[in-house]
Amino acid sequence: MNSGLPFALLALVCLAAGWPAQAKQPPAEFRPGEIWNDTSGQPINAHGGGVLFHDGVYYWYGELKEGRTYLSEVNKAWGGTRVLAGGVSCYASTNLYDWKNEGVVLPSVADNPDHDLACENVIERPKVIYNATTKKFVMWLHQDTPNYAAAHAGVAVSDSPTGPFNYRGSFRLNAGVWPVNVTASDQVAGGTNFLARDFAGGQMSRDMTLFVDEDGKAYQFYASENNATLQVSQLTADYLQPAGKYARILIGRSTEAPAVFKHNGKYYLIASGCSGWDPNTARSAVADHVFGPWTELGNPCRGPQADKTFLCQSTFVFAVVGQTNRFIAMFDRWNKWDLQDSRYVWLPLEFDPDGQPIVKWRQHWKLAARK
Ligand code: GAL
Repeated sequence: MNSGLPFALLALVCLAAGWPAQAKQPPAEFRPGEIWNDTSGQPINAHGGGVLFHDGVYYWYGELKEGRTYLSEVNKAWGGTRVLAGGVSCYASTNLYDWKNEGVVLPSVADNPDHDLACENVIERPKVIYNATTKKFVMWLHQDTPNYAAAHAGVAVSDSPTGPFNYRGSFRLNAGVWPVNVTASDQVAGGTNFLARDFAGGQMSRDMTLFVDEDGKAYQFYASENNATLQVSQLTADYLQPAGKYARILIGRSTEAPAVFKHNGKYYLIASGCSGWDPNTARSAVADHVFGPWTELGNPCRGPQADKTFLCQSTFVFAVVGQTNRFIAMFDRWNKWDLQDSRYVWLPLEFDPDGQPIVKWRQHWKLAARK
C-alpha cells in the first residue's frame, strides 16, 4: 500500500523525532544472544555467573573472559579452549536491562604462577550470596589448575557487594566424611568409584552454584566424582566452609552447570550434560528436600534448537523481586574459538500445569510492569 508520504519526507520526520538517537540507547528489553552493552556502551563481560539481589539492586557476577582464546597441550584431548583467567567481574542494575560495570571484584593474579588465582589457572562459575548474620558477601567459585585436575572450590569474602573480595583459598570438600545417602558398596574403593577414591582427600568440585534456602541455610551444588555425579553440600552458618553434611544426586548422570531454585516449597534444578563448551540437551529435576531424592523431569527447553539448549549452557536461575512466579533462567552461549565473544541468553522460566519448569525461546522479551 502507498501511504502517499514520499520516502525522503518520511526520513526527515524520523530524524526530527530523534529516532536514530533513540536506537543507540540500551534496549529496555532482553535480546537473547545479541551483544549486551553495559551503561558505558561496552559489551558486558560476566560469563558463567550468577545474580544476587541486595537492598534494591541486582548484582551480576561472572567470569571476566578477555583476550586470545587458546587450546593448550594439556587440554587438547578434550578440546578445552581457554583465555587467561581475568577474575570475577560485577555489574549492578535496578531494572535488569541496564547494567553498570562495577569493575573486577576479585582479580586474577598476573605475576605469581603459584597463586590459586594465577591467570593461567581456572576461575569459573563464581556465585555470591549474602550472609545476614555476619553481614558479609560470600563468593564461591571453581578454582582449578590449567588441566582441570585440582577440582577445587575457592572462597572469597567482602563487606560490600561490589568488593573488593578477599580471597581465602581453595580446597576439596568434606574430606573423611561419607555422604548422607552413602551405600555399603559406595564405600568400597576401586575401579570408577571416585567417591571412595576421594574420601580421604576430599571430593572434587568443578561446575558449581550456591543456593540459600528460606531458613538461611546455604548449599553448594557441584559437579564431583570426575564430573560423573553432582553433590550437594551444606555450608557452615557463616557460609565460608562445607558443614560436613552432603549428598550425592543425579548419580552417574554426568551433570554440569547446575542452576537451583525453589518454587511452591519444592526444589528445582536445571543443568546440562557434560560436553565442554559444546551445547547438549538440558535437564531438569525436582525434590522435596535439598538432599533429595531428586527426580528428573527432562528437558525444560522449548522452541528452535531446544534439544541443544538454544546452543547454550545453563548458568543460573533467579526470581524477579516483586513479581510472583517470575523466574529468569540465565544461559551462556559459548563461543569456544573466541570465548570473550560468548553471549548471554536470558529467558523467562515458567511452570507447566504438571509443575515441570519450562523455558521457551524468545527472540526478544520484556518483564511485565511491576504490580
Ligand atoms: C564446561 C563447563 C564450563 C567450562 C568448560 C571448559 O563443561 O560447564 O564451566 O569448565 O566446560 O571447557
